[in-house]
Amino acid sequence: MKRLILASLAAIAGLALVSCAGNGGAIPAPTNTATITIHPDQAVNVIPDELYGQFAEHLGSGIYGGIWVGKNSPIPNTDGYRNDVLEALRELKVPVIRWPGGCFADYYHWEDGIGDNRPTMVNSSWGGTVENNSFGTHEFLNLCEMLGCEPYISGNVGSGSVQELANWVLYMTADGGKWADMRAKNGRKEPWKVKYLGVGNESWGCGGQMTPEYYAGEYRRYAEYCRDYGGNHLFKIASGASDYDYNWTEVLMSGIGQQMNGVGVHYYSTDFSKPSHGSATDFDSDFYYWTVGKSMGIEPVIQKHIAIMDKYDPEGHVKLLIDEWGTWWDVEEGTNPGHLFQQNTMRDAIVASTSFDIFHKYTERINMTNIAQMVNVLQAMLLTQDDKMVKTPTFFVYKMYNTHRRNKYVPAEVKSDLLQKEDGKLAEVHAISSTTSISDAGKLSISVTNVNLDNDVDVTVNLGSNGKAFTAEILNSADIKDYNSFDNPDKVGTAAFSSFTVDGSKLTFKIPAHSIVTFVEK
Ligand code: AHR
Repeated sequence: MKRLILASLAAIAGLALVSCAGNGGAIPAPTNTATITIHPDQAVNVIPDELYGQFAEHLGSGIYGGIWVGKNSPIPNTDGYRNDVLEALRELKVPVIRWPGGCFADYYHWEDGIGDNRPTMVNSSWGGTVENNSFGTHEFLNLCEMLGCEPYISGNVGSGSVQELANWVLYMTADGGKWADMRAKNGRKEPWKVKYLGVGNESWGCGGQMTPEYYAGEYRRYAEYCRDYGGNHLFKIASGASDYDYNWTEVLMSGIGQQMNGVGVHYYSTDFSKPSHGSATDFDSDFYYWTVGKSMGIEPVIQKHIAIMDKYDPEGHVKLLIDEWGTWWDVEEGTNPGHLFQQNTMRDAIVASTSFDIFHKYTERINMTNIAQMVNVLQAMLLTQDDKMVKTPTFFVYKMYNTHRRNKYVPAEVKSDLLQKEDGKLAEVHAISSTTSISDAGKLSISVTNVNLDNDVDVTVNLGSNGKAFTAEILNSADIKDYNSFDNPDKVGTAAFSSFTVDGSKLTFKIPAHSIVTFVEK
């Protein structure tokens, strides 16, 4: 806040501002104007559906209470899945869900979650909660079928065996044999289609404390016996690096290479070196800009991992998946610290939209991202409490940005005020972030985020051709700290946006502070 007030005062006085922000250099006085020049003729890469992927772990109420309440629950449900959540996930057109973890995946034994007699276990990473295994393979894969999305199964490498994971693949996808017979006995004759198979999770940490060299050897063994059956074709994903661990990617690319179809990276917009991650709803402007800088800091991280992949795989056969990302705040007061239940404000929405603006640029290599997590955990789409459910500001970003799915990414030059300089792991923050994409029918979709906390910005988009007409919607709220609570579930949401003009090849509008607008060509 301080630095923006100084910048505004300097602008009024016509002075050049010398700010002590970032590396100590000058931040020019704000103009509160921006130009976006788009190049539809240069559109090549398609934005895959899976870029908008989700992650649902057995953690807190991410599954139990959040998705699954069981058939006998008083909460309205369809075969045990809560109706309100199903409807909201359908509204989002969820393309893929990663399950059952996370850390949980590496101590999950899938045979405990099938059939009539399901043993309980202790969820040792996440609050010591007793897991009753009532949500298992059938419940997850049936959910994916109901939503029309791809399953991404995360296999147990840390405490499991090659045989156990190979059997799981047989159980889910084989046409015949003892595992298919057991599946049929448990109510499912037809094999499911399972596309994405993760071989472990965070194998450098909660997934087994392995060195990259050791993991590469393990990966090869696991991947060899996880085979394709019938018409199913597995896309095998190696457990990837934690953000800045480029050596992990280097060793996997040299030691596994094209025996993997993809490799992950996990990146959270938080500071794990501090005991507190900060409140989800009570933060000052400095922490807001820190958060945006940290979340935008994913771009150089992506670039460095891609540069290593390019070295070993210049043709881009092996894909990069950001299979965990998002904000991580302190849990809400009175909730189990191990359950990672956090609120979600317009700040989280801005992290989501600006992250997508980065992911979209790299779809030549990135084919999936999975925000952590879908319901009730970390930066969730949906929060539930008993029979109540709210859609978070992040939900609305996903919904608005769906227009870009399967479109081609349109390169653009975006010029706007510098708000914060690069500083170590914090990226440079500019006032305006955006994505433009174009459909097969030649229709544009343009999303624009104004990161400024206090200043509206006059934006001109140079469209390059005349005669375009748009509909638009805006996501914003009076205060960046606003959120949807169970008592006030509709405080933050989208609305039609009509304050724009198209004159010849120029689209112009004023975008309010801390808001997100998406235009869709008619
Ligand atoms: O998303 C929460 C946890 O964060 C996941 O279980 C783990 O993979 C990561 O460390």
